[in-house]
Amino acid sequence: MDLTPQGVTRAVVRRANAFGATPISSRSVLSRAVPRPGDHDGLAALRRAVGGKVVLVTGASSGIGRASAVRFAAAGARVVLVARSEELLTEVADDIAAAGGEAYVQSCDLTDFDQIDALVTKVLDRHGQVDVLVNNAGMSIRRKVQHSADRFHDFERPMHLNYFAAVRLTMGLLPRMVEREHGQVINISSWAAVLRPARFSGYAASKAALETWSDCVQGEVLDDGVVFTNVRMPLVRTPMIAPTKLYRRVPALTVDQAATVVCDAAVSRSRRVTPLVAGWVSFWESISPALGDQIRKNAI
Ligand SMILES: NC(=O)c1ccc[n+]([C@@H]2O[C@H](COP(=O)([O-])OP(=O)(O)OC[C@H]3O[C@@H](n4cnc5c(N)ncnc54)[C@H](OP(=O)(O)O)[C@@H]3O)[C@@H](O)[C@H]2O)c1
Repeated sequence: MDLTPQGVTRAVVRRANAFGATPISSRSVLSRAVPRPGDHDGLAALRRAVGGKVVLVTGASSGIGRASAVRFAAAGARVVLVARSEELLTEVADDIAAAGGEAYVQSCDLTDFDQIDALVTKVLDRHGQVDVLVNNAGMSIRRKVQHSADRFHDFERPMHLNYFAAVRLTMGLLPRMVEREHGQVINISSWAAVLRPARFSGYAASKAALETWSDCVQGEVLDDGVVFTNVRMPLVRTPMIAPTKLYRRVPALTVDQAATVVCDAAVSRSRRVTPLVAGWVSFWESISPALGDQIRKNAI
């Protein structure tokens, strides 16, 4: 057996995947999420998974959503781009078209349920189905709870966008997936849902809520060919984290690396994609919550 840290990691990941209990993706480990240069196998696998299929990505105007949409389109998917900014979405669609891909712009404020319902109708009328839904649009808040004393919206806003919007959109698209016995819902969750770090109570709770909802629904559609994948994304260098100066000194994935993680999830159809570090913390916390509290207290 290979006893180097990489070898042991690989063995743990293989064993976890084999048992299906904790399907940790080997590609999700921070240092290993780097796309291999000339990764023709990866692109070919993605082509087999999404070529000619309809992939709807929310939050496609920026960051992880934008990079993922471009990568899905490069693999031959018909990509539906959703966000509020029509101008930015059109830029992304133009880039995709210039590279020979196919993309459709659907601007929508996902905090408005009527707009979500209208989006579902338009997309199903035009494309007939959505094969892969990527619930990526989201917002984050990093604030101590005592500083939110007069700001209850610090808890309402993340729930509205990160949880209720994703549930509403999924509810709209799920019946067609079940009818066709085919589909995948990829939730761009966060390792915060596992680590539950101090100062992220509103954000982490909203991500954990979506994961829990999805896991419950998975039990109902287990035999219908529909898979829910919770991607517990680590830190990614995007406009979302730009306001936090501290993060400039902390290692983070690039958007392209994050897009690789998302696209790998479409290929593997794993139920969960968890950075190993979050998996280990979760394991130790199950043995000693007090240890988890110390990690949380010192987390960034
Ligand atoms: N960056 C990280 O370190 C990190 C780590 C873990 C998880 N994540 C998760 O990854 C996802 C993407 O984050 P990101 O870092 O790529 O952020 P980002 O660059 O700030 O992009 C956020 C996207 O969400 C869209 N959006 C925001 N509010 C919306 C609304 N009301 N209706 C429709 N679209 C809306 C934005 O487009 P418009 O403004 O045009 O609407 C934008 O396209 C989020 O769910 C985030 O929680 C990020």
